Amino acid sequence: MAMQITTGTSELRDITKMERIGAHSHIHGLGLDDRLEPRANAQGLVGQAKARKAAGMILRMVQEGRIAGRAILFAGPPSTGKTAIAMGMAQSLGSDVPFTTIAASEVFSLSMSKTEALTQAFRRSIGVRIKEETELIEGEVVEIQIDRSLTGATKTGKLTIKTTDMETIYDLGMKMIEALTKEKVLAGDVIAIDKTSGKVSKLGRSFARSRDYDAMGADTKFVQCPEGEIQKRKEVVHTVSLHEIDVINSRTQGFLALFAGDTGEIGPELRNQINTKVGEWREEGKAEIIPGVLFIDEVHMLDIECFSFLNRALESELAPLVIMASNRGMSRIRGTKFRSPHGLPVDLLDRVLIVSTKPYTPEDIQQIIEIRCQEEDTQLTSEAITVLTTMATQTTLRYALNLISTAQIIAKKRKAEKVDVEDLRRAYTYFMDEKRSVQWLKEQQGTLVFDEIKQGDGDDDPMAG
Ligand SMILES: Nc1ncnc2c1ncn2[C@@H]1O[C@H](COP(=O)(O)OP(=O)(O)O)[C@@H](O)[C@H]1O
Ligand SMILES: [Mg+2]
Repeated sequence: MAMQITTGTSELRDITKMERIGAHSHIHGLGLDDRLEPRANAQGLVGQAKARKAAGMILRMVQEGRIAGRAILFAGPPSTGKTAIAMGMAQSLGSDVPFTTIAASEVFSLSMSKTEALTQAFRRSIGVRIKEETELIEGEVVEIQIDRSLTGATKTGKLTIKTTDMETIYDLGMKMIEALTKEKVLAGDVIAIDKTSGKVSKLGRSFARSRDYDAMGADTKFVQCPEGEIQKRKEVVHTVSLHEIDVINSRTQGFLALFAGDTGEIGPELRNQINTKVGEWREEGKAEIIPGVLFIDEVHMLDIECFSFLNRALESELAPLVIMASNRGMSRIRGTKFRSPHGLPVDLLDRVLIVSTKPYTPEDIQQIIEIRCQEEDTQLTSEAITVLTTMATQTTLRYALNLISTAQIIAKKRKAEKVDVEDLRRAYTYFMDEKRSVQWLKEQQGTLVFDEIKQGDGDDDPMAG
């Protein structure tokens, strides 16, 4: 059965990524120099030199396309920058190398099987760079004439466009008129129209018209009137992920499902067809595979079925680099009675490279706090910074960083410009850290709803300290 596989790129091309301020928004890269040596404090990252260097080496291999189907494990106590370093790696990859992040527990909460959720995550992390020829109409606008119907409800029109060698008149429909109006196209503009998508782009104003108007913005760009044919073929390159191709071609969903995020399960037959097709494109030189990165945070939350899926998926030809993070020491593998390092089965551990992260020194912590203050636009007095650093060493870095914004609100209430020790102290009493919370829970025993855990069933021993 020959099925038409499309990539739906003209619909997808205009979607831009959203940025937000979050726990890791101060991180802009790994902060390494050309020789992959970590700078003490760069691109938002501080200390943790060995792990950052290791991350940089892995990244270099990904960029050279030499590594796929491999797995890395960041192992270390909570708040030692495992997620932060992974985000730094994501920032340093090229814009069209896919980087997908999932938290292992997400796999259980989606409305699909665990293995389907993982398969989708894998396929999101493989890019397909596609070369396509499109037809363009390119030339200098001589005249745009728009006729309204008597009621004004419909419009028709004519576009006269020329190159140095020829001139043609095109009939315009409603859609084209709208597109031209939106771009504010006037006579004298040099424009390009993508014939398949109907997208209009303004390339600049024609030199020939440079003296026509004297009221022109300083940023007006002048270009030559194009030569030759008005209709041209041009090669465009864009990247989509295998998962996007899956969804667009799944007959029940269509590409709108990409926006709803509600993609449901996708059949293996379709995936096989797509793999075959992409393979063909690759042989014909029309497409290139870009193995990206899949980051699975808190990987010890996966269970044995997921782990064996991972093992198998890593062997497949179209596998991304898989980066995992775990804060467990020896702990139980979910879905089994066995204990294993980091909560990962030994056969999986066998194929991963392990990078460990270590607790920070007070100097590192202080620098991270200062970076976060800048990111959150908050000023701390120098005493407050010292106190917060001490708090971080006694609780966790993450807890201390969370206090910055709460203390700022308290400081604002007393109309102070800078957060002082007293504000931190009050924030500290309002919000508990984990240790105090555990203590409190013990004191409250019996008054809260509890889940009794049988002795010996516990699997939680974070590698604290
Ligand atoms: N080396 C670092 N440089 C800058 N910020 C860091 C560094 N390590 C951790 N952070 C920040 O500290 C917080 C906790 O780190 P995180 O990466 O979430 O820890 P983990 O994933 O190891 O539990 C995050 O806000 C993170 O961005
Ligand atoms: Mg983390």
